[in-house]
Amino acid sequence: MTHFLDINQTDPADLRSMLEEAKRIKSARSGQPKGVKDAELALDGHMVALIFEKPSTRTRVSFDVGVRQMGGETLVLTGNEMQLGHGETIADTAQVLSRFVDLIMIRTFEEEKLIELAETASVPVINGLTDRSHPCQIMADIMTYEEHRGTIEGKKVVWSGDGNNVCASFIHAAGQLGFDLTYTGPERLDPEGVFVDEARAKGANIEIERDPMKAVEGADLVVTDTWVSMHDALSTRERRHNILRPYQVNDHLMAAANEDALFMHCLPAHRGEEVTDSIMDGPQSVIFDEAENRLHAQKAIMRWCLGR
Ligand code: CP
Ligand code: NVA
Repeated sequence: MTHFLDINQTDPADLRSMLEEAKRIKSARSGQPKGVKDAELALDGHMVALIFEKPSTRTRVSFDVGVRQMGGETLVLTGNEMQLGHGETIADTAQVLSRFVDLIMIRTFEEEKLIELAETASVPVINGLTDRSHPCQIMADIMTYEEHRGTIEGKKVVWSGDGNNVCASFIHAAGQLGFDLTYTGPERLDPEGVFVDEARAKGANIEIERDPMKAVEGADLVVTDTWVSMHDALSTRERRHNILRPYQVNDHLMAAANEDALFMHCLPAHRGEEVTDSIMDGPQSVIFDEAENRLHAQKAIMRWCLGR
């Protein structure tokens, strides 16, 4: 079974071929109205379950539209509406869904749920975000970087803020695709050491620098994300804001990066918190290209999972 669970678990050659495929898929339908199907109906006759145990705008819409453009059909299921949310086990749910659908995408909390689903389903499973990672987002982000600046290999990415699930997938990608990553943020919110060690062992230069101004020196790409993720307790909001404030991406910080550095944010953003309007709407920002590229990157991921 070919699951897409995490970037660090996917062969680098496969990641590279999915990225190339995503670029090809995007250019093949350039300028078409969104409701027009792709010329190659790669998911013709396929049914895809999209399970959401957390809110979503981009993941939900990009998977739904992507499957339909490829000629397939979707079932969007939210955790609470399913028996899954009322005590049915993941293993039972996985086996039942596998009788009805050809592919499952899940956004959930604990990574263990994703793993159990993949272990028990007899159809491919895609990770649409867990508390620990967000691989589809980073495939779209790498695609976006490369559209604007060419290969990401050897480039310096700086993550400023919370060392969260999205940061983790960037670290996974650094290990697999050969770029350097500097994390700048408070020690308490450092990315998981196991991911840092693994990417370093694969040859990536992963640095931790507490001073954000020093961190962004030589940066080709500056990335941030919300200071309070969906899995974070709201009671930690004030403390998180207090310790993360020095890591806001603003004009002052961005001016210390390379002149042609890009800015990314997976969205949704909290303007005025982790990033200012001037950066979100400024010339270095590629945030809406990132959002669009979720569609194209995920089409390539789904095709890879289904061997199409
Ligand atoms: N970036 C992202 O995954 O957005 P949603 O939470 O809206 O899906
Ligand atoms: N880190 C954020 C990403 C949202 C797409 C979260 O997990 O809530």
